[in-house]
Amino acid sequence: MDAVSVIRTKRDRGRLTDAQIDWVIDAYTRGEVADEQMSALAMAILLNGMDRAEIARWTAAMIDSGERMDFSVLPRPTADKHSTGGVGDKITLPLAPLVAACGASVPQLSGRGLGHTGGTLDKLESIPGWRALLSNDEMMRVLTDVGAVVCAAGDGLAPADKKLYALRDVTGTVEAIPLIASSIMSKKIAEGTGSLVLDVKVGTGAFMKSLEDARELASTMVGLGTDHGVKTVALLTDMSTPLGRTIGNALEVRESVEVLAGGGPADVVELTLALAREMLDAAGIEDADPAKALADGSAMDHWRRMIAAQGGDPDATLPVAREQHVINASETGVLTTLDAYAVGVASWRLGAGRARKEDPVQAGAGIELHAKPGDTVTAGQPLMTLHTDTPERFAYAIEALDGGVLVAPPGTSFEPQPIVHD
Ligand code: URA
Repeated sequence: MDAVSVIRTKRDRGRLTDAQIDWVIDAYTRGEVADEQMSALAMAILLNGMDRAEIARWTAAMIDSGERMDFSVLPRPTADKHSTGGVGDKITLPLAPLVAACGASVPQLSGRGLGHTGGTLDKLESIPGWRALLSNDEMMRVLTDVGAVVCAAGDGLAPADKKLYALRDVTGTVEAIPLIASSIMSKKIAEGTGSLVLDVKVGTGAFMKSLEDARELASTMVGLGTDHGVKTVALLTDMSTPLGRTIGNALEVRESVEVLAGGGPADVVELTLALAREMLDAAGIEDADPAKALADGSAMDHWRRMIAAQGGDPDATLPVAREQHVINASETGVLTTLDAYAVGVASWRLGAGRARKEDPVQAGAGIELHAKPGDTVTAGQPLMTLHTDTPERFAYAIEALDGGVLVAPPGTSFEPQPIVHD
């Protein structure tokens, strides 16, 4: 077998055989297939696609490239959630302790932000002392003692995906349904959760811009999970505008704590509860009421224990950026557009995200929204506050917002997007 013949098969719109897939994933993981060859193959897959059987084999080969975890020793059923990535998507933070408070074990192996989408680990690392890197033993201990853990996936889990994802990120080959589905599901299946709820984002701030593509991605992932014995369901949720009123690491932790305290923005609460209900249902827990667990403080109690178990101080003051800049409405009217992609890029440019994997992020950087689509605004009223430690970034962030914030004449009718499309 050789890499060039595998690339040619896909370049010429052929089907990859099981033997070709097994070989190329294994040889790439071992370093025998070079990055430039794998990036050519990834581009051929992006352009020419893969059928369901090819995607299933590709996913199985990525799972087999590393270790599999086993949560069957835990006393409670496991429930996991994965979001395909969005702007202001802090849902994992309130959701993991909430679902643990309702009786499930929640092993959230999470990632860092790259590009305009934020990462759960970057957000939690803004809490002084909190550690993302846990050994397998530590992870099991937190899961047993608290019921929820949010940590980085170990290097042994689907190593083929780790290499391939970093390569796709720098070769313009992220947005391919077969590659996204196999990347996400190989990690989730290798992780060993019993049930999984997928939050498939759709809209300008998501990988999938249309409902049709999001549905195709969701059904591909549900099929992969189900075939591997993981009870898998998917929600298609809106990412045309940021979730909540904060974008950025410490800013999003603060808002998540507000939700756990029984408050917080309505869209964040609605999506957190919708996902919690799906997770509990998939885990076979019927008698729990997540809204009650938010209201009675038990979700907050699990959050505090989860943060402390990973070295964090739940009472610590969160970092605040050194500089702020307020953007005011230039006219009176109805805010019709607050584009998720534009706001995500602006927040990234302020320092909340990274351009390369090894870059640091600023804990306090990001954006606070003072108005959301559908609100009536008056000329001069603050629309958002930009936060950064490096004020030379303000102009660059403001440039990213150009065309992404639209105010229509007073009285213009506005049709809000549902949070959950399907
Ligand atoms: N998240 C992943 O883990 N992989 C992708 O390909 C896209 C989003």
